[in-house]
Amino acid sequence: MTTRIVTLANRDNVTYEVDARRPLLDSLREQGVDLPYGCKYGGCITCAARLTQGEIDQRRQVALNNRQIAQGYVILCVARPVTDITLQIGVESHADLYRNPFLDPLAPHELKADIAVPKES
Ligand code: FES
Repeated sequence: MTTRIVTLANRDNVTYEVDARRPLLDSLREQGVDLPYGCKYGGCITCAARLTQGEIDQRRQVALNNRQIAQGYVILCVARPVTDITLQIGVESHADLYRNPFLDPLAPHELKADIAVPKES
C-alpha cells in the first residue's frame, strides 16, 4: 500500500497517514476527522476543502468551477493524494467557496463547463 501524509493546517497541523489510492474523505473520516459530505460522487461540493500544499488527483469531480480550483479547492470524496499534502478544512476553508452569482456574476472562463473536460495526462 502506498501511503501519503495529510496535514490539517487549521487543526494544529495534526497529521494522518492515508492510502494514496482511496478518497481522502473516506480515509480521514475513518480516522476520526469530522468532515461533512453529501453525494460522495464529486457533484454536490459539500465535502470541499482547500489544498495549501502538495498535489491531488480529483479528475472525477464535477462540482468546482475554475475560480474555486484556482483558489485551491478540492473535493475530498473523489480526491486522492498524489504527494504528501496540507489541507485547510471546515468552516474556515469554505469562506471563499461560494459567491452569489446574482451580485457578482461569474465570468465565462469561470463557468463549470470549462472544467468538465478531464485533464490530459
Ligand atoms: S460529498 Fe458531494 S461532492 Fe463530495
